[in-house]
Amino acid sequence: MRIDVIGGGAAGLYSAILLKKSFPAATIQVVERNRPDDTFGFGIVLSDETLGNLHDADEPTHREIAANFAYWDDIYVQYKGQVLKSSGHGFSGIRRLTLLQILQRRADALGIDVRYETEDAGVHTHRGADLVVAADGINSVVREGWKEHFEPSVDLRSNRFVWLGANMDLPGFYYSFREGVGGIWNMHAYQYTPGESTIVIETTNDAFLASGLGIQDEAATARLVEKIFADDLNGARVLTNRSFWRQFPTITCRTWRYRDGDTPFVLMGDAAHTAHFTIGSGTKLALEDAIALNKAMVEHVGSGGAARAAQVDAALAAYEKARRDEVGRIQHSANVSLVWFENVRRFWHMAPTQFHVSLLTRSKQITYENLRLRDAEVVKEATEWWNRDQAKKLGIATAGRPAWLDAPPMFAPFRLREMWVPNRVVVSPMAQYSAVDGMPNDWHLVHYGSRALGGAGLVFVEMTCVSPEGRITPGCTGLWNDEQAQAFARIVAFVHANTPSKICMQIGHAGRKGSTQVGWAQADWPIDESSGDRNWPLMSPSPLPYRDGVNQVPREMSREDMDLVIEQFCRSAILADRAGFDMLELHMAHGYLLASFLSPITNLRKDAYGGSLANRMRFPLEVFEAVRAVWPRARPMSVRVSATDWIPGGTTGADTVEVARAMKSAGCDLIDVSTGQTDPAAKPVYGRMYQATFSEQVRLEAGIATMAVGAITTADQINTLLISGRADLVALARPHLADPYFTLHAAAGYDFRGIGWPVQYHTGAAQLHTTVQRAKEEAARKAQLVAERGH
Ligand SMILES: Cc1cc2nc3c(=O)[nH]c(=O)nc-3n(C[C@H](O)[C@H](O)[C@H](O)COP(=O)(O)OP(=O)(O)OC[C@H]3O[C@@H](n4cnc5c(N)ncnc54)[C@H](O)[C@@H]3O)c2cc1C
Ligand SMILES: Cc1cc2nc3c(=O)[nH]c(=O)nc-3n(C[C@H](O)[C@H](O)[C@H](O)COP(=O)(O)O)c2cc1C
Repeated sequence: MRIDVIGGGAAGLYSAILLKKSFPAATIQVVERNRPDDTFGFGIVLSDETLGNLHDADEPTHREIAANFAYWDDIYVQYKGQVLKSSGHGFSGIRRLTLLQILQRRADALGIDVRYETEDAGVHTHRGADLVVAADGINSVVREGWKEHFEPSVDLRSNRFVWLGANMDLPGFYYSFREGVGGIWNMHAYQYTPGESTIVIETTNDAFLASGLGIQDEAATARLVEKIFADDLNGARVLTNRSFWRQFPTITCRTWRYRDGDTPFVLMGDAAHTAHFTIGSGTKLALEDAIALNKAMVEHVGSGGAARAAQVDAALAAYEKARRDEVGRIQHSANVSLVWFENVRRFWHMAPTQFHVSLLTRSKQITYENLRLRDAEVVKEATEWWNRDQAKKLGIATAGRPAWLDAPPMFAPFRLREMWVPNRVVVSPMAQYSAVDGMPNDWHLVHYGSRALGGAGLVFVEMTCVSPEGRITPGCTGLWNDEQAQAFARIVAFVHANTPSKICMQIGHAGRKGSTQVGWAQADWPIDESSGDRNWPLMSPSPLPYRDGVNQVPREMSREDMDLVIEQFCRSAILADRAGFDMLELHMAHGYLLASFLSPITNLRKDAYGGSLANRMRFPLEVFEAVRAVWPRARPMSVRVSATDWIPGGTTGADTVEVARAMKSAGCDLIDVSTGQTDPAAKPVYGRMYQATFSEQVRLEAGIATMAVGAITTADQINTLLISGRADLVALARPHLADPYFTLHAAAGYDFRGIGWPVQYHTGAAQLHTTVQRAKEEAARKAQLVAERGH
């Protein structure tokens, strides 16, 4: 078998080594344009987990790597003159050149033909090879040559960074943030060998331009870095080595394999994908790609001859399948992490404790509970700080030491105007499609009643429509007459009489997304009139149907229509007040009527209500102001927004910050930050807590309280979002359908007893707390036994 490898970096050399071990008879040649001792960059980081994988894949290289790395456990963060430390992180640093030399020696020992100072002679020279490994790095010629096949996409990030070294020791990973010329400059530093550390300096493009540095100005860069980070460097000299200012390209490809006639090519490492350096995973991914490729080849490739081509194809398909999810997960974390560093200014007014937690939890890999496992003291101190800070901001006396003061953040009370919410967990609004003529009934009483009994601090009622024509479906609740208000009053009275929870009414108008089937039928499609229900005419800022040829074309709203809608919203607000609701939310998200004004995708008006963001906001603001005027001053109001349309050219986080500022000036107390559902063209990027980044942006940039929502499923995630300043309240929708008692169960998990169990259920509560704590003790005992045996 003949295997050609293009590129003698981590991916190329390690694949060659593993494949040679698995297929000793194979002829393996590596071409590398650089000399063996020619490497740019200084040190790289590998995690404990990656080292474990290397141990299993090739013990001799692992042994040498382990003998050469600098190991550390701590992360230090310098922020505004204070250095904060956390432990338990487990990373190793190694000189990049040392790692490559270990791999080079091993390749040599295995008889692999590595040709240095040799430029690859072109893809045609690999004809006849059974496999070509294209490990030719970030600027891969193979990938770019077959662009139409690999379909690479490159997201060139806005920040500038440079890779430098410094003659200094560091006790752990070290971050420093300094206000410098033109903006904030970040240092990411770690030692990789005694007396030598890698330092990556990053800043915004604006700050870089303000500095006057040239991209290849190495000497001036070193001087400026020595000046800005003088207190961190402590006299150490900054070293350069092809230290050019770059912008990070996040690379993804549709596929990583291509058969050129008889010759199969596979992309690996940086050629196939990149992950931002702030999660230090580029070398990890390159090495783990090599492990996966070798495993797939061993599993699929046996005999020689004609059968081999199909076997190699099967192996490459298996390699790609095995790596896609893991690489995607790491790239997602890296993308979330880089956004944090692109927006350091956003966090600049935070207290040091919160800045520290925000940085550590930025990529969602480290959460509140995960951090507690790493460093319990940091979580304890941060929790104490956060609870006291909240008490101060909300004006709560702590003299009697309320139980929540020592508990995780989710159990802290919250206040909006005169409304006190007993904890931070919220039941997100969820349409039940169970009303007739807008009337809530026993279903709604039991549904909302149970969720309030389940301990959530605040329960939202589903989008309740301001008029019959404003409904999404015939099953939607409405609030346009006294009868409906009385039916809601019964639900509100139940919640107030039996629970400490507060209850919020969400009112809205469906706009162009109205006149559709209930959620469990064909959602968003017009009513099937054979059901007996009739479709009704729709209106929207512009005459655009939700789906061409499927949904009705709405009529473009006139000023009279707008006046009518304002009246309808006000009537609903007055009825909600009569029903006794504690809070009122206006639905301006998910492509419904008010959202359709905000989004440039759905608002193509040429008058004063379309065009600029200020114009698009005009009508939603008029509605808000009119409703605020009839809603009691003492009670809060919120607005639900879609912070992004997930469509190029649509609403962005920055637009939403502007909307939030305007709403705040009009008397809005909280922004409920959702996303999308504007138009079927949307391409949302889902993931755990995937919308919380917008809640963070709005909260920190517009300076208004926010509620985060979307794929938040655990108490751990709720606590992470609160303590890191990403939200003030956290809403869960689907988890509350599966478990109305989510909050009480979480309280039992933390053995927090300061929560309002209904008196009727006290014996059940006592039993649950005991059972949960026993299970936790048992799990801890087991973990300790495993750890002891492991040693
Ligand atoms: C600032 C910065 C900090 C980083 N920090 C870390 C970190 O802490 N931890 C970490 O894991 N990763 C880190 N990385 C990423 C890491 O360096 C890369 O992800 C990793 O080197 C990828 O390995 P690779 O083998 O795929 O590519 P490379 O290491 O780039 O190797 C590709 C090789 O192919 C050769 N080549 C290319 N084209 C040809 C050709 N036509 N002919 C012959 N030879 C060719 C090149 O000379 C090169 O040696 C960092 C990157 C940057 C930019
Ligand atoms: C069945 C169902 C009905 C929903 N109805 C509404 C609604 O009436 N108003 C609203 O603003 N959001 C509605 N949503 C969206 C949720 O409030 C929430 O934003 C979304 O489900 C994401 O949260 P989750 O991941 O916790 O489910 C609904 C969601 C579900 C699952």
